[in-house]
Amino acid sequence: MEREPLVDGHGRRIADLRVSVTDRCNFRCQYCMPAEGLQWVSREEVLSFEEIERIVSLLVQMGIEDVRLTGGEPLVRREFPRLVSMLAAIDGLGDLSLTTNGYLLERDAGALAAAGIDRLNVSIDSLQRDRFFQMTRRDALPQVLRGLEAAARQPGLRPVKVNVVAIRGFTESEAIPFAEFARERGFEVRFIEFMPLDGDSAWTADQVLPGEELRAIINAVYPIEELPREPSATARVFRFADSARGESAAGGQIGFIDPVSEPFCADCNRIRLTADGRLRTCLFSLHETDLRGPMRAGAPDDELELLVREAVWRKELKHRVGEEGFRRPARSMSAIGG
Ligand code: 5AD
Ligand code: SF4
Repeated sequence: MEREPLVDGHGRRIADLRVSVTDRCNFRCQYCMPAEGLQWVSREEVLSFEEIERIVSLLVQMGIEDVRLTGGEPLVRREFPRLVSMLAAIDGLGDLSLTTNGYLLERDAGALAAAGIDRLNVSIDSLQRDRFFQMTRRDALPQVLRGLEAAARQPGLRPVKVNVVAIRGFTESEAIPFAEFARERGFEVRFIEFMPLDGDSAWTADQVLPGEELRAIINAVYPIEELPREPSATARVFRFADSARGESAAGGQIGFIDPVSEPFCADCNRIRLTADGRLRTCLFSLHETDLRGPMRAGAPDDELELLVREAVWRKELKHRVGEEGFRRPARSMSAIGG
């Protein structure tokens, strides 16, 4: 069934959905969760696979093309590959991707590819074991790297990208090792500016390491050149100049997601569904729309459609990180769904 396309009050066509399948996580990254974890959403409050499937189907009828599954950590949700196959079967869905911390990927990569994940992003903040531990509070780098390699062995999972949260005083020294990792392994490594969504509420503007600085560090050693930007892409992507000229076999790409220093809100086409069934129209939304309540009360699709349309119509023009009077949302990244 086709429905009217989803547009917001600023004329943006909404085509990208992120679904958080759980708020729980087996890591405790400094920039996301407090060391002691968070108050988890109770099991009854979390959407069932059938409920997620229903909302995603409805949104696909309204023009959502790309769906990314996130968490928390999606792979800690029991039978997660079964949800993937349910969603992959939705008629009209263009692309189904996954963001994971990689810890359980060695176990799951084959099942995920078979179930219909098209591509995935693995979060890795350091290529040194002790520094990885410092950032994630888990001594898990070898396990995550094995997971990444297991994903790379699945031809169906392409491209494989690595997400690095960039933090001043930490990530500068990671830039070159990650550039070399991208060149050697052919991955796209993407640096993401630290946003005020950490569970400890410790974010300060001076901890943001602008993508521009990392670009300069890398470019001085391995010259890079920018690729044309795809519409609504959040990342600026670069390739290595020597590979472009055929002087070296070096593959891989470097991407920069700079929401703080270069906001890309003007062509944002994204909405989010939290694990407990609320629709968020911005990472930094202060308001969310409950879909679970009406759905469990028996609302038909047409009524849910109306709720979605009204929420999307009010999608924020832009985030105001760094501006006077900015208020951070009550939820942190793991509870929103990166
Ligand atoms: N700022 C920027 N990126 C973050 N992520 C989690 N918390 C933050 C934050 N405060 C990243 C994770 C993951 C992606 C979904 O979001 O590392 O790669
Ligand atoms: Fe877990 Fe991802 Fe948050 Fe790290 S960033 S604590 S891996 S949800």
